[in-house]
Formats: sequence, structure tokens, C-alpha cells
Amino acid sequence: MQEIEPYDFIEYFKRNTALMVSMDKNGKLNVMALDWKTIEDFDNQPVIRAQVAYSRYTYQLLKEGVNEFTVNIPPENNHNAIDIAGSYSGRNTDKFKLAELKAIPGKRTKVPILKDCILCYECQIIHESKSNMSSHHYFYGKILTAYASNEIMK
Ligand SMILES: Cc1cc2nc3c(=O)[nH]c(=O)nc-3n(C[C@H](O)[C@H](O)[C@H](O)COP(=O)(O)O)c2cc1C
Repeated sequence: MQEIEPYDFIEYFKRNTALMVSMDKNGKLNVMALDWKTIEDFDNQPVIRAQVAYSRYTYQLLKEGVNEFTVNIPPENNHNAIDIAGSYSGRNTDKFKLAELKAIPGKRTKVPILKDCILCYECQIIHESKSNMSSHHYFYGKILTAYASNEIMK
């Protein structure tokens, strides 16, 4: 993985479902499939705005756990991880184990990034707001650093 600027390779970010990793205060990890995401400037700094439903365990972790998340774009052929992360809840399933996902320590966040992803972003939550869908909430994560795999850097 090599460090990149937040807006580099944005076409891959936009067209692929992401795996969003969150963590509780004891270090327990969770991962969720995330389609509703943008990279945009907020207060003149690049953020990932993630739209997360109130019903998700991820929502609870983002509110009550570590004030950070990572967003990871898996290779286009890894449907298994997306299916598992997007259909089970971390409340009662260890999705890391089930999907055989490997965590790698983040450089700037306590929350890890995911091995074998083509893009990874380490984010610190700096703002939240109600989404225009009443069932969802926006989290704005300042991008502290971002990486791309050698595969897409070619
Ligand atoms: C392809 C795909 C994309 C998804 N995108 C989102 C999303 O953007 N926001 C959201 O709240 N849920 C989204 N979901 C649903 C959650 O990933 C799903 O409800 C998951 O089981 C929540 O896990 P959790 O309870 O461990 O947080 C998506 C599911 C799939 C399959």
C-alpha cells in the first residue's frame, strides 16, 4: 500500500461498495457494507460522509465507541466480504471471522484498515447530521490518511 491524496482514485471509491470498520471502547471491531458514501470538502478539509441507518450496530459504535472509522474498498471480485458485512449484524456475529477479513493497524487511527483492499481511508469523526432520509444519519470523517494498493497504482 502507498499513501495517496484523499481525492486520488476517486472513481474506484465511487463505483464500489465499501467495508466500513468501527470499534467499541474496548477494542471490539465491527465491519459493515457501505454504499452511501461521498468524499467532499467540509470546513475546507476532505471528509468521507457516510450515511448509516440508526438500526445498525455500526451506528451504535460510531456514537458510543471510538470516534473514528476506516473505509476500505475491497477488490471488485470480493463479493463474499460485502455479502457477509452487509447481511449479518456485529451485535451477534463476528463478521471478521466469518468473512476471513484481516485487520492491519492504522497509522493515524486506533481503528484498523483491512488487508487486501485496493483503497483504505483512516477517518476521525468531526461532524454529524441528520440525513434527508429519516432512517439514516450522516457521519463526517476527516480523512487523516489514505492508501492505495500497488495493484491500482500501476
Ligand atoms: C451492498 C450493500 C450496501 C449497503 N450500504 C449501506 C449504507 O450505505 N448504509 C447503511 O446504513 N447500510 C448499508 N447496508 C446495510 C448494512 O451493511 C447491513 O444492514 C449490515 O448488516 C449492518 O451491520 P451492523 O449491524 O453490524 O452494523 C448495505 C448493505 C449491502 C449489502
